Amino acid sequence: MPAAPADRVFIFDTTLRDGEQSPGASMNTAEKLEIARQLVRLGVDVIEAGFPISSPGDFESVRRIAGEVGDAATVCALSRAVPADIERAAEALEGAKRPRIHTGIGVSESHLRDKLKISRDEALERGVAAVKLARSFVEDVEFYAEDAGRAEPEFLYRMIEAAIAAGATVVNIPDTTGYAYPEVFGELIGGLMENVRGIEDVTVSVHCHNDLGMATANSLAGVKAGARQIECTINGLGERAGNTAMEEVVMALKMRPDVFGVTSGINTREFVRASRLVSSITGILVQPNKAIVGANAFAHSSGIHQDGVLKQRSTYEIIDPEEVGAGGSSIVLTARSGRAALRHRLAELGYVMEDDEFEHIHQAFLDLADKKKEVYDEDLEALVGEAERMIGEVFHLEQVHVSCGEPGIPTATVELIDRDGESFIDSSHGNGPVDAVYNAINRIVREPNDLTEFSVQSITRGIDAVGEVTIRIKSEDGRTFTGRGAHPDIVVSSAKAYVNALNRLLVAAERPQLPAEV
Ligand code: KIV
Ligand code: ZN
Repeated sequence: MPAAPADRVFIFDTTLRDGEQSPGASMNTAEKLEIARQLVRLGVDVIEAGFPISSPGDFESVRRIAGEVGDAATVCALSRAVPADIERAAEALEGAKRPRIHTGIGVSESHLRDKLKISRDEALERGVAAVKLARSFVEDVEFYAEDAGRAEPEFLYRMIEAAIAAGATVVNIPDTTGYAYPEVFGELIGGLMENVRGIEDVTVSVHCHNDLGMATANSLAGVKAGARQIECTINGLGERAGNTAMEEVVMALKMRPDVFGVTSGINTREFVRASRLVSSITGILVQPNKAIVGANAFAHSSGIHQDGVLKQRSTYEIIDPEEVGAGGSSIVLTARSGRAALRHRLAELGYVMEDDEFEHIHQAFLDLADKKKEVYDEDLEALVGEAERMIGEVFHLEQVHVSCGEPGIPTATVELIDRDGESFIDSSHGNGPVDAVYNAINRIVREPNDLTEFSVQSITRGIDAVGEVTIRIKSEDGRTFTGRGAHPDIVVSSAKAYVNALNRLLVAAERPQLPAEV
């Protein structure tokens, strides 16, 4: 891979290698392949797929990922500065279109004296030999100077210069123990840029750990000082306190071009999907207040913030949640929420009401919110149970009958009664029983809408459980209405939910002065 242009930062993902070193995060080959596919969707430049000598499973994962990724990304394998490691890495990468061997050795006094028990000169010799051997297998060789964050800068310069002379194409400056802080780490990278011969011909990489919570800040300081590759993981997964979180560094570069002036090639809309995938595969949950991908990253709870966000999102949000694949901002209803937030949520649920009705609900909401931390949609449904009566039913589902099977054409007949007591019966077929029922209802109600959500949940236990269907429909003018229906037969639940949503839509259409939903 040629060195990064001045305005571009390469993103090197190590979720499958350093991330997997996180206690409890081990993944099998199929799971790693699934994550690798998501990394390709994200558009990462390099996937560090594993440490092949460490186990047959790791070797196999690297081999399979190398074979599958093609030229969508560089596939990298880790090794120590040990010939057997490098040979095994090369073997695992044989099927890769863009292979890279990542090799290196410790450079801090602590690593040389206490771990490797070798002199600086010996480390230098081993590092150079490792790069040369790796270069005999592949064109692209990354050299890491382990624990560079605690190394003596003059020795680090010598080591990096020797690695470049030996053929390294990328030089990695890890803050292995998360000891650095931004100013010092930036100076370390700046020092390398100024003092190392040949540095302008290679890509300088930063690999920061989060022991002091500064991995993201340190990586960005490295970029400001000239680094053009960031090593990171999804959700900041990694050894101990983890690695730099990809979503954080990438969004920082994207949101602050005035500060960094560089771009990554990442499709940020894939972040939430990637985060959820890694979390569900590893079983390691993401803290709710985690930047970018946490459940609360775009949730607003206080009345002051909610009021601001409902008027103009940017008053309290610097990132559009859609930009990271988070859907939208959410308003969390608590005792601190104001009227605007409650009205907004009710409208989203399809409840349209006059001011006096709303005041009644607001009072009940405040009483409940004092007793509960958070007021959920189900609570609102219960609170406005009587609103259902206020709204009144435009149509009532009197009966529904379906026939389906294989072979057979799913067919439904429904009877609706309107509020004047008139009965309407119609039939239709569909792709399945629910589709047939909805088509039959549409033939009677004739109110254009799109079904945007359909979910079924069992609300009691056992084979005879009552199934609750929740649906959302969108009217022609873009408003959303929720409908719910519960019955042991989920086709009946579905019909009830649809008629319920249609009733809300029809009542809203009769009350144009009421607030539009978003
Ligand atoms: O943290 C570290 O130093 C590493 C190296 C192996 C790159 O993970
Ligand atoms: Zn690391």
